[in-house]
Amino acid sequence: MAASSWHQGWDITDEEREVYRKRSQASSRAKAKAVRGEGRRPIHPINVPWLNPDDLMPQLASNGWRSLSLFSGGGGLDLGFDRAGFTHVASYDILPESGITLRNVRPEWTVFGGEQGDVTQVDWREYRGLVDIIHGGPPCQPFSVAGRQQGKEDSRDMFPEFIRAVLEIEPIAFVAENVTALVGKKFSSYLKEVVEHPLRQNYTLIQVILSAPSFGIPQMRKRVFFVGFRQEKMASNYQSPLPTHSWHHLPTDKVKPHVQLDLFSLLDPSETLQPCMGVREALGLPDIGFDTLSPTIRSSLTGPRHTTSVLSSVSAQKIWEKLQIWPNGVALNREQARLFVPDNGHFRLSVPDCAILQGFPESWSFDGAVYKALGQIGNAVPPPMAYRVAVSIAQALS
Ligand SMILES: C[S@@+](CC[C@H](N)C(=O)[O-])C[C@H]1O[C@@H](n2cnc3c(N)ncnc32)[C@H](O)[C@@H]1O
Repeated sequence: MAASSWHQGWDITDEEREVYRKRSQASSRAKAKAVRGEGRRPIHPINVPWLNPDDLMPQLASNGWRSLSLFSGGGGLDLGFDRAGFTHVASYDILPESGITLRNVRPEWTVFGGEQGDVTQVDWREYRGLVDIIHGGPPCQPFSVAGRQQGKEDSRDMFPEFIRAVLEIEPIAFVAENVTALVGKKFSSYLKEVVEHPLRQNYTLIQVILSAPSFGIPQMRKRVFFVGFRQEKMASNYQSPLPTHSWHHLPTDKVKPHVQLDLFSLLDPSETLQPCMGVREALGLPDIGFDTLSPTIRSSLTGPRHTTSVLSSVSAQKIWEKLQIWPNGVALNREQARLFVPDNGHFRLSVPDCAILQGFPESWSFDGAVYKALGQIGNAVPPPMAYRVAVSIAQALS
């Protein structure tokens, strides 16, 4: 399959591999038992989430602008642009399950998944005159601090392919999304040579860094967007999205002794913004006297190892523990999560719960086994964040 070259092997010894294999077999047996109803008695009722991400991105009327999606994944950018009123032209992704996800949720869309979705094989000139804006998140593993940071030496660096599409189609505007490590010192010459140099001749580039909780998404997640306009006038019209929400807990004078504030609560002084929910509130879990933003949900599908965990770091583990939420062995649905009680009795996450923490509404279901669905979720731009970017671009174009 074309996608296999995309998967990076895990660099471990045979003994370590055996330990992981045994652990994962034991966990599969325990899960199968639980799903048959032979496990520990369930502790938590099925949760009814309070956050509906659709509320964070009210559907706007068609604005007439036509958008083409590259590296569409599970469709975070696609959904945001759709809700912002753009007309979908086509989506491309090399993973077959991305194609299935998008066709399931939007049967009327033109979607190229699997080998047909491989952007390296497309002659983009046939789209010239048919597309106003191109958006895409070229794979971020070459730049991610969680990856090996090989930049253009990494065969997964797809920025040149995104740029080829822009230069061949010549849209009015484009937006490319990535991890913020890309704008760090380590990649400054990469950014200048590979990204900015070929584009600057025809486009004015604007860099925008956005944070998920500023748009009501209950997760610590930052992303950088490179917005490009062919006309100088549109670029000077452009205003980056302003926060709609802020994460803050109770005012300090009302803090109960057992409620602990985290760093984010101290950073956001604004009173005028709507409050961003914490994880427990968003998922509709009972009050335990502590709530906070979800640690960054990992992008597992294309990382070094397929996994059903959303855990991204050691510090994340501590936060999940304080939240009394188990971030490993994510269940396919809420019923299975309820039946498969973790040893420590914490709340087990399910795929639809992880999707909500990434800003996807319940109606947006993901194709594939748990690890594949989590890969699409973890790789995505949270749709409400994508929506605000899309709205900001539409405003500059009008
Ligand atoms: C960071 S994800 C994009 C997520 C997407 N922007 C969203 O918001 O949901 C990168 C995607 O690029 C895809 N990809 C990698 N190589 C590709 C190629 N040659 N052609 C098309 N898609 C590719 C991966 O399968 C992955 O889904």
